Amino acid sequence: MANIPLRKGGPAARIAVLPGDGIGREVTPESVKVLRAAVNRPMEFVDLDWGADKFLREGVTLPPGAVEMLRDEFDAILFGALGDPRVPSNQHAADILLGLRFKLDLYVNARPVELLHDRLTPLRNRSERDLRLIVFRENTEGLYVGVGGFFKKGTPDEVAVQEDMNTRKGVERIIRYAFEHARWHNLKRLCMSDKSNAMTFAHDLWQRVFKEVRQEYPEIESRHLYIDTLAMEIVRDPSQFDVIVTCNLFGDIISDLGAQLAGGLGLAPSGNIHPGATSLFEPVHGSAPNIAGKGVANPLGSVLTSGMMLDFLGWKDEAALLKDSVRAALRENKVTPDLGGALKTAAVGDWLADYVAKNAK
Ligand code: NAD
Ligand code: IPM
Ligand code: MN
Repeated sequence: MANIPLRKGGPAARIAVLPGDGIGREVTPESVKVLRAAVNRPMEFVDLDWGADKFLREGVTLPPGAVEMLRDEFDAILFGALGDPRVPSNQHAADILLGLRFKLDLYVNARPVELLHDRLTPLRNRSERDLRLIVFRENTEGLYVGVGGFFKKGTPDEVAVQEDMNTRKGVERIIRYAFEHARWHNLKRLCMSDKSNAMTFAHDLWQRVFKEVRQEYPEIESRHLYIDTLAMEIVRDPSQFDVIVTCNLFGDIISDLGAQLAGGLGLAPSGNIHPGATSLFEPVHGSAPNIAGKGVANPLGSVLTSGMMLDFLGWKDEAALLKDSVRAALRENKVTPDLGGALKTAAVGDWLADYVAKNAK
């Protein structure tokens, strides 16, 4: 059961670093650079080369024994992104990223949407205090489970089926986690979002579980919005939301929308969490083949992600320091071109590393 204070970690940490493909390989090393400068505790980083190159070279996606190794020998995984135009099927990304989410049972996908500098939002007359919410995306089931198939593939009579799998246990634990998070952080408003008016079986289950679980949290003002309405409301007035909980696919979409309201994909962090067990931290963005190799990818999303990882490890001061460094970079315009700056990825990393080294306790 969700237990917010229960984190993995202790006096030391072992981190698996999985940069992956494209800009994942550019932003992740910057994060490690900043972590090394900020954290004055035993922290070991072990590099993993899983991704498109390895897949194309050796046919290996998630190597045998990988899940057990990560579960037993590491506290957390710092992940970049997966996706490569040479692998149009995206097979390796499905095996590695979705594979780890499912096999490590990382049922909480936490995606904070926080405006860290007023100038970054495309919304008119909105400021930092209007945009501070967190999306909890169910991360182990729904339309992502890969249950389905083709019939008469490639013919005019083709049928394609993709099943939306929702379990009582899966729905309950993510809704409960969202409520626990609200309670723990003293957040007063929670919104569950589904499409129960059209998805009359799967999301009927969400409705019933939500109505049951909310009884246990009378101090939290909880309500329901259909996902289409939520998309509209979050743009119209984001200040009405503290905690949003939704299914896997809707959480994917709404978190990109939220990311753009707070400055774009280059800034958005996330954590794939199983409380108390090895968890995976990744920026919300993908491998961005359109800018990969140019050295212009924004590393701030990855650095904020690393901050979430430190928080998960229980290292609160260092987590706060990383966030402070990002705020400072935004204030001083030490940023990449996507945010209107002139710096390259590595120069932003250097600036942040310098900042945290100077400000570390
Ligand atoms: P994307 O997030 O890679 O890129 C979308 C747009 O945002 C692009 O214009 C890109 O240049 C820009 N962008 C993203 N991150 C940026 C950053 N850090 N700095 C500056 N600009 C940034 O999404 P996409 O183009 O739809 O997908 C590309 C590939 O990545 C696909 O193979 C997709 O499946 C994969 N993907 C992987 C993950 C992941 O591994 N977690 C997440 C999303 C997409
Ligand atoms: C994300 C990505 C993944 C997802 C893709 C790459 C499968 O978009 O992490 O947001 O949909 O979960
Ligand atoms: Mn996504």
